[in-house]
Amino acid sequence: MDDYLLDLGKRPWLGALAESAGIPVPPNLERRRSPWRERELTRRSVAIWSTPESEALEPVVRTCLDNGAEVSLDQRSAASETLESLAETRGTALSRYATDGTPAGNFDALVLDATEFAATGDLDRLYDLFQPKLEDLTDNGRVIILGRPPEGAGSPEVAAVQRGLGGFVKSLAKELGAYGSSVHLVRVDEGSAERLDGPLSFLLTPRSSYVSGQSLRVSARASDAGTLKERRQTLEGQTAMVTGAARGIGASIADTLSREGARVLCVDLPASEHLEAVARRVGGEAMALDITEGRAPDAVVDRAEREGGIDILVHNAGITRDRTLANMRRSSWRDSLNVNLEAPLALTEALERGEALNNGGRIICISSVTGIAGNRGQTNYSTGKAGLIGWVGRMAERVGHRGITVNAVAPGFIETEMTRQMPAAIREVARRMNVFRQAGRPDDVAEAVAYLATPFAQGISGDVLRVCGGAWLGE
Ligand code: NAI
Repeated sequence: MDDYLLDLGKRPWLGALAESAGIPVPPNLERRRSPWRERELTRRSVAIWSTPESEALEPVVRTCLDNGAEVSLDQRSAASETLESLAETRGTALSRYATDGTPAGNFDALVLDATEFAATGDLDRLYDLFQPKLEDLTDNGRVIILGRPPEGAGSPEVAAVQRGLGGFVKSLAKELGAYGSSVHLVRVDEGSAERLDGPLSFLLTPRSSYVSGQSLRVSARASDAGTLKERRQTLEGQTAMVTGAARGIGASIADTLSREGARVLCVDLPASEHLEAVARRVGGEAMALDITEGRAPDAVVDRAEREGGIDILVHNAGITRDRTLANMRRSSWRDSLNVNLEAPLALTEALERGEALNNGGRIICISSVTGIAGNRGQTNYSTGKAGLIGWVGRMAERVGHRGITVNAVAPGFIETEMTRQMPAAIREVARRMNVFRQAGRPDDVAEAVAYLATPFAQGISGDVLRVCGGAWLGE
């Protein structure tokens, strides 16, 4: 699907010409992507503000070093022997800057550890640290703030301060989007800082290039499923089942999970043109099945048993049947709820009952920003997609003791067959309603799913990750 404005941005002189004529050209998002076992931040520079007392300091520094980044740290934090030896064993050294000062030079990422912010006066540090450094942030840069969940905060003031971080992140994301840069909040429960390596490795790298203005919560909700060393091996030896895998986002998810080493069972309607081809491409297997059929749950359990159980279950199949409620047929209402909500629930229930979901596994639902913000003409779709979000929250509690995580990914406007059906004028507006002023691609969603599928995401459960370019709509 052609996006003429995006094409302009890829030709520097044409882009400059368009900008000078007042035409807002979308930024060129960096989408260099590689498997999780490879280091993604080689030669990238990351400035970190933290304190030696913070439990997040060591995991943050270790994650950046493990991803190949060059790390700048204030003198007091960098004085730790543990951190020095972490850097040394990775063949690098920490750059130091004056405590209470600002690191000099350009940076690809700025990370602020605000987990200990407790008084409203602490919020001034957001201004004092970021304001002078923003012009030194490279294009496609990252700003990451670490905070605490406001729920359960020690006092109303702490809750206010921690919630305040969320407002800052959302607004700054809207300011930096024009440069392809993104801003995130990672809320980490006390005692869960060791689980920061996954979210940071996702958010700091081009794996997350179409994600901005989001907050993720890192918790101990799902019990541990392996040591850090084992976690590096990503998805080798695991079996994934992806519904709606014949095209669009589902096909891209199948590709990406297979890149990470998983064997992928590709489920789609029997009439799907490309199902066999996708399954062949990913070295997996095709399963022609309408997920709404009465026999579907048994068929899925039967297949899962023959595979030795499912490790990663991705509920991606979805349909739109758009009409305003006043003009909607009952069959459109029913079909939408059936595919988008009831079938994922029924398949999971059957797999759980049949003990065909493996311990330490992953359930990932593809919801939608429409399920968060609502949309005219999509009451049926929004009901189903919002329902999925409610379901993952509760399911995460139910299966957490088995190390299984349950999450939703909520895409914004992604270029696929589904969005190609939209009237051209509406499509053009929908593409631009985000901080990057462009649509996402199926692989943007697939990278988020792959991240949630890896052992790196053990700390994320019951959460919703929006892959929407920081869409203007919704919370
Ligand atoms: P798509 O229409 O290109 O692909 C959906 C796939 O699901 C198709 O291959 C279709 O045959 C399959 N499918 C539909 N009903 C099925 C059933 N009963 N049984 C088995 N397979 C079935 O859609 P796209 O864009 O790739 O969307 C994938 C998911 O992402 C959907 O859940 C959609 O709601 C969601 N989404 C898409 C967005 C977008 O902008 N494209 C935005 C937000 C969410």
